[in-house]
Amino acid sequence: MFISNTYKRIFLKIKNAKGIWIYDEDNNAYLDTFSGIGVLSFGHCDEKINLAISQQLNKYTHISNFFVDENAIEIAKRLIKETGKDGTVFYANSGTEANEAALKAIKKLKKGIIVSFENNFHGRSLGSLSVTGFPNLRKHFEPLLPNIIFLPFNDSKKLKNFIESEGKNISAIFVECVHGSGGLDVVSKDFVETINRYKKTYDYIIVADEVQAGLGRTGEFYSYHNFNLDPDIITVAKSLGGGLPLSAAIFTGKYKNVFSVGDHGSTFAPNPVSLAAGKTVIERLTKPFLQEVKEKGNYLKANLLKLKENYPVINKIKGLGLMLGIELKKAYSDKIVEYGLKEKILLNVVKGNTIRLLPALNIKTNEIDELINRLEKVIKFL
Ligand SMILES: Cc1ncc(COP(=O)(O)O)c(C=O)c1O
Repeated sequence: MFISNTYKRIFLKIKNAKGIWIYDEDNNAYLDTFSGIGVLSFGHCDEKINLAISQQLNKYTHISNFFVDENAIEIAKRLIKETGKDGTVFYANSGTEANEAALKAIKKLKKGIIVSFENNFHGRSLGSLSVTGFPNLRKHFEPLLPNIIFLPFNDSKKLKNFIESEGKNISAIFVECVHGSGGLDVVSKDFVETINRYKKTYDYIIVADEVQAGLGRTGEFYSYHNFNLDPDIITVAKSLGGGLPLSAAIFTGKYKNVFSVGDHGSTFAPNPVSLAAGKTVIERLTKPFLQEVKEKGNYLKANLLKLKENYPVINKIKGLGLMLGIELKKAYSDKIVEYGLKEKILLNVVKGNTIRLLPALNIKTNEIDELINRLEKVIKFL
């Protein structure tokens, strides 16, 4: 009522939240396994982020793009440095907007076919939806952007055949190295090698969508670092603003000056309060911290694999770092969420059959144990 019917809701009246815990009106504590869909890398109400936000609130909250906020420069420097190339950053507010910026850049640079893959998710605005490999999400809104082809993810042979026949007509390839909404499949090294190899001949633009898997979630600053993909444009969002809306499209190398004045814009982005929060996020993504994410990811995965041994209802454990999926043999969707609520664990399901775990990156080992403990009780119900 009153609110557009675009989401399945979890009927929990939230009073407050801290770390990996969400409290309801009766002070029941629920373990949050998905951190606002991968947004809260440092959990709920992180002190450093809250301090940065409150200090910025007393400076200014909006200045418009006639002026540059120092934090915008600092964050951009780091986002670019991690690509190992030179580049520029265009800021936006959400993942879909970052991908719209990438699409506009591609349109300006090259006319041709854009390749995307089945189960890639890039957003719901018309451009990003056009490259999203979920036919059910696209069907009501077609015709969308023309000249887009979807190939099967990780099928190197089909990709190779397509590139060999159409290579000179390909303008860009969109890659989501770890499928977030698409079921937590991880790109294969062989697939990446094929994408990189033919780029040398056909010079297409590679876009790495790092909206969900980027910024430390897989234990690397960008998830593509795990696979040595060689992208030209990188998009980030979700955790970038520490819980506030902030996203970026990073244009590297020869594409760094793709946009001129007036080519693209946003009234709100980058919001100074989001930038202040984002700066504290970026600063904390240090090498030792990323190493810890890897170790905790391995620990969580090892425990999930143990569950798989004991519960035949589990088909596969998928994903990388602290971005993991438990694929079940059947689609239980709503039941999982419902049983989770009973056991005071908040669970998120993608593709109907995969529990997606995106806990805060600073989750503690004993909290992972508690997560497994509660998760096991839910699995037992199935
Ligand atoms: C990989 C990826 N790209 C793009 C998006 C779209 O981001 P937003 O919902 O902020 O527009 C998402 C959102 O889940 C995503 O996971």
